Amino acid sequence: MLSAVERKIEQFVGELNDKEVSALYTKLPHGKRLRAKLILKIAGTSLSVVKTAAIVEMIHAASLLHDDVIDDAYTRRNKPSINALFGNKTAIMLGDILYSKGFLELNNISPQVAKIVSNAVVQLSLGELKDVSLSKAFNLDKEIYLEMIYQKTASLMEAAAGAAAVLADKDKVAYMTYGRNLGIAFQMIDDILDITMDSETLGKPALHDFEEGKTTLPYIYLYELLDAQEQKILKSLHTKKLSKSEEEWIKSKMQEHGIIQKSYAEAKLLVEEAISLMNALGEDALSSIAMAMIERDF
Ligand code: FPP
Ligand code: MG
Repeated sequence: MLSAVERKIEQFVGELNDKEVSALYTKLPHGKRLRAKLILKIAGTSLSVVKTAAIVEMIHAASLLHDDVIDDAYTRRNKPSINALFGNKTAIMLGDILYSKGFLELNNISPQVAKIVSNAVVQLSLGELKDVSLSKAFNLDKEIYLEMIYQKTASLMEAAAGAAAVLADKDKVAYMTYGRNLGIAFQMIDDILDITMDSETLGKPALHDFEEGKTTLPYIYLYELLDAQEQKILKSLHTKKLSKSEEEWIKSKMQEHGIIQKSYAEAKLLVEEAISLMNALGEDALSSIAMAMIERDF
């Protein structure tokens, strides 16, 4: 039924009555539509559910359009990003258009759903700003990192699950916890993959996060376990364009200290909590979505 969501997004974009925007939209890689999947699995496929899923995916797409400008990312999901193809100005405006059309449509759902989703967009914008600000320094505070990824990524998944629970008249708190845990784990895994995957599989340059100044969970853990001399070296590489040997050094130190496993275990814990919550509610499909997230190859 994800195709109903695709059609709804196309319809919303079509209603803008703008050939340029319709053409740009076709250049946008769709991704996994994870948020829409959660919404449909929780709330079924009534018209307002499909609309809510479409709105959330439009907001998510808008946030990634802006994010790729902010991160100077020229690929997204193995394809050229909109900023790479048409420049930053077009990418930002396409983001604004998708985002505002999504908000316009949100008014037609329900005040409670509108509140949950719009609050998440505030959080996600605050989170992205935090990400940018944290990248200017060498952040070693795990709590600050966790708060930032909650806001930047988990808030919209939490809201997707919460909005769906409201539409389906289900227990909002349990589903929001599920969405939040999944979102935090998702971003942790995204941050791990930036280190473990080669750039071709990743669809973007590997170790890009650290070059961009982002000290994600693996870097925070690595720093804690390095000796003073090595800590100095790691710090000196922060925000630098890394040479092959510097990349290798970081990767070998991560391996030596079991950093990837340690970070992955943290994500896994959150996913397991989400799974047991859903198992208790008999939501097998939602448990499976969570399971699939941690069953990837590292
Ligand atoms: C990806 O992070 C970024 C996000 C999930 C959130 C981005 C949010 C904004 C730009 C706020 C603006 C919001 C709207 C609605 C226009 P990442 O760079 O760590 O992940 P990546 O590897 O997918 O790039
Ligand atoms: Mg990014």
